[in-house]
Amino acid sequence: MRYLIVANWKLNKTISEAIEWLKEFGIQKTEFRSQNVKIVVCPSFTVLSELQRELKKTKLPIKLGAQNVSQFEKGQYTGEVSAGMLQGLVNYVIIGHSEIRKHFGETDQIISEKAKQCEKYGITPILCASNLDQLRGCEKAKDLVVAYEPLEAISTEGEFHPDDPDHANEIAGKIKEIIGSKNRVLYGGSVHKDNVKYFAARKNIDGLLVGQASLDAERFVEILKKMKN
Ligand code: PGA
Repeated sequence: MRYLIVANWKLNKTISEAIEWLKEFGIQKTEFRSQNVKIVVCPSFTVLSELQRELKKTKLPIKLGAQNVSQFEKGQYTGEVSAGMLQGLVNYVIIGHSEIRKHFGETDQIISEKAKQCEKYGITPILCASNLDQLRGCEKAKDLVVAYEPLEAISTEGEFHPDDPDHANEIAGKIKEIIGSKNRVLYGGSVHKDNVKYFAARKNIDGLLVGQASLDAERFVEILKKMKN
């Protein structure tokens, strides 16, 4: 199974900033071996089609993901973006991120409906969960990827409070017992170039979800370079 590294840009980057990131990434690319990793970048909706165009041109080894999706298919839901609209544009969608649970009241029920929408349109859901209970309703989703993200570890950059890699590995193992050992489990929360090797070495962790440290292409490539073996 190739290691999966997902960049979550959150509420950052205009179209021109995203294109600039891609240029920077292209310059650095020779420094890592892309056959060892699968790279997914999740920008805002507004940037997706432009990035898709650029990726076709540059042939950089990056797949696109969205940071959210509606639980609804279509209709009177102002401001929403459906899985059908994302089909053909992204391969992955992040669902259940703790920031959306917290700021927008997303519940396990809503998240499981989002997973169903992803399944219907052939998009792989990356379900973020800070504990095993948050897998509820999504356990059987097709090709489900789970990102284990302990709340206290998210966005602590500057201070850096990542989870203990052994603990993260233990939880990842428990997640696999629920979702199946063939499904990927990622770790997310304060990942940066100096701690990446500790998580990468753990047997139940199949990839990383990277926030802050993915915003700068050079720093992101530093993480990818640690994936050589
Ligand atoms: P962080 O964010 O890497 O900035 O901690 C991770 C996430 O929230 O997905």
